[in-house]
Amino acid sequence: MKKLRYFKIFLVLFFVLGTSGIYAQSTYIPIESRNNVLVLQADNGRVPRIVYFGKKLQNKEEYSKVAGMCNQGDDYSGILNAAYTPSGTHNLVEPALSVTHADGNTSLDLHYVSYETKPIDDNVTQTSILLKDPVYPFEVTLFYKVYKNDDVIEQWTAIRHQEKGAVTLHKFASANLYLKADNFWLKQFHGDWAKEMQPEESKLTHGIKVLDSKLGTRADLYQPPVFMISLNQPANEDDGKVLYGCLEWSGNFRIDLELDPLNNLRIIAGINNHASEYALQPNEEFTTPAFLYTFSDKGKGDASLKLQRWARNYRILNGNGNRLTLLNNWESTFFNFDEAKLKQLLKETKKLGVDLFLLDDGWFGNTFPRNNDKAGLGDWQENKRKLPNGIASLVKEARANDVKFGIWLEPEMVNPVSQLYFKHPEWVIKQPQRPEHLYRNQLVLDLSNPQVQDFIFNTIDSLFIKNPGLAYIKWDCNAVIYNAYSTHLDKQSHLYIAYVEGLYRVLARIRAKYPEVPMMLCSGGGGRVDYAALKYFTEFWPSDNTDPLERVYIQWEYSYFYPAIATSNHITDWGKQPLKFKADVAMMGKLGFDIATEKLNETDLKFCQQTVVSYNGFKEIVWHGDQFRLVSPWNSDFASLMYVNADKTSAVMFNYLVNNRYSAGSKVAVPLKGLDAGKKYRVQEINLYPGTKSAGGLNAVYSGDFLMTVGLNPRVNSNRASVVLKIDEVK
Ligand code: DGJ
Repeated sequence: MKKLRYFKIFLVLFFVLGTSGIYAQSTYIPIESRNNVLVLQADNGRVPRIVYFGKKLQNKEEYSKVAGMCNQGDDYSGILNAAYTPSGTHNLVEPALSVTHADGNTSLDLHYVSYETKPIDDNVTQTSILLKDPVYPFEVTLFYKVYKNDDVIEQWTAIRHQEKGAVTLHKFASANLYLKADNFWLKQFHGDWAKEMQPEESKLTHGIKVLDSKLGTRADLYQPPVFMISLNQPANEDDGKVLYGCLEWSGNFRIDLELDPLNNLRIIAGINNHASEYALQPNEEFTTPAFLYTFSDKGKGDASLKLQRWARNYRILNGNGNRLTLLNNWESTFFNFDEAKLKQLLKETKKLGVDLFLLDDGWFGNTFPRNNDKAGLGDWQENKRKLPNGIASLVKEARANDVKFGIWLEPEMVNPVSQLYFKHPEWVIKQPQRPEHLYRNQLVLDLSNPQVQDFIFNTIDSLFIKNPGLAYIKWDCNAVIYNAYSTHLDKQSHLYIAYVEGLYRVLARIRAKYPEVPMMLCSGGGGRVDYAALKYFTEFWPSDNTDPLERVYIQWEYSYFYPAIATSNHITDWGKQPLKFKADVAMMGKLGFDIATEKLNETDLKFCQQTVVSYNGFKEIVWHGDQFRLVSPWNSDFASLMYVNADKTSAVMFNYLVNNRYSAGSKVAVPLKGLDAGKKYRVQEINLYPGTKSAGGLNAVYSGDFLMTVGLNPRVNSNRASVVLKIDEVK
């Protein structure tokens, strides 16, 4: 009896000391960036646990004391805060990894073995943590790639085993995080065609909230893989603790947000395991995509600055380079054009002053000409009737007009009314015994099949070979995957993953051969915007909705996660706002036109030409500078945003009226951000519509201190619905 009591006391001491961090055997693994740290406690014989995530402490020794400061009760299993939660043993909450072993057993435990942190360069370090199952020859490595100055982490997992046969992975997350706070606020996004990035912010309740996609391709149509979590209260632009998360994957994703019995938040993010069980062969390594996150205790503005900088420096193709302004023919001609018309548009391109003409959908297909969206997709030969002299003559004509030429493709998809479909029905994703279900009259090609990958690569390669002057690609993707089935794969549950891997293989081949050519990532609008695809693309198309009033909101929401240099914005006929409003909104990113310029009256044309000149004057600031969201359109009559260059010598401020009610407008000054208080700046309203004047009293010299303390009233009202102010240092 006495012995049992001592044993119980020993157990209690072991547990209390263990969880309080005083336990001598504990290893603390601090994964540090410039301002933040993720601390894991790793004990031999246990799964590593997250004991702290947030602002860095000055003294590393004190990380071991953090856990002891919490008095949240007992989680019984000691595993709620696992750094990577296994299933089938003592875990009873949502797992990160769940498997069936080769012998049919479903239990998994992952014990800490070792860790290593190695520098990659001055700014980047990578920590890897090895975990092993004590019973099965099954192991996992957790990777944390830290971009120190950006406070950004990419986290992923490699899974492998040496069992006697395949192990089935039922769930295989990229990352597992654990946050402690009084409560948690989720900002998530939903949407549809022309309604991308609709935000919702709500307090998380107990249980699991899942953000996911099961669409296969065009995976973000209803929900993108980005979200933010505010701790304690919704963060605003300048205050509050907030985590931004993004899964780097262009297919089905799943993000579990589980508020656990101890009131802490478990985040598990990865590929969606829906219909995707993976048979992992012995010694094969399954590497998950990375989950990307940044944390700030200074609000959403700071978190965005970090992510946008990271994206420019490390992810978006040519993120610190230049972009081409363009004229696109989609909205002005749709499928109805011929060579003469396009040659006319090439002249218009020159007249407008933009860099490139982009030929959109409808240039291909002969047996089944692409005269509408019902036929021709997949037959990538120039339509002889529309383009008797081929793309080559257009590229030549573009050169003669001193502009560049780009082209639209939707290489992953096929219309059943096409030669490709008749020639290669086995290349199409569809259930063999069920009726086809079309999306925009089309089906998806099976990119898990290397033959299909070759076909897509060769289609694009031969376009470049035949037309070396081709300067730009718009890569569209309009259909989702229905009736998921591949004639190429033995294991159908591998299709969703193999598709995305096949897509990346094609993109990597294109980039190996054509590293620089700018490409726009488009998916019937913003149906595929993510940080895995953006490795191969210079920009993305946020939405087919180019109504400038809608765009103020859509671009505002994208800007939390993506920099302006990657955001293509076109001036079109959508919306009721004046042309100036449209132009000013489109300039907050990568400017383009998609209007019938030949139909513009003289003043409108002059204004468009002036817009290109104005834009060329400050585009470097928008592309490479820091962005600040100043006044939200969601809770004001107007929206204000600004961009500031790196040395704080130039800035540009955009202001838009978003409310039509009587006397709506900017009533008080808007304090600016990101300037140098000690400098003096000249403020000047630019891009005025011909014949209009700036509001009195705005154009003057102010100190940076004044501009950031008192601010500027852009004098937005119904007569001045959009106002652009250029701010330049004066010495
Ligand atoms: C959808 C894209 O979002 C549009 O910009 C346009 O390229 C059409 N597809 C063409 O079919």
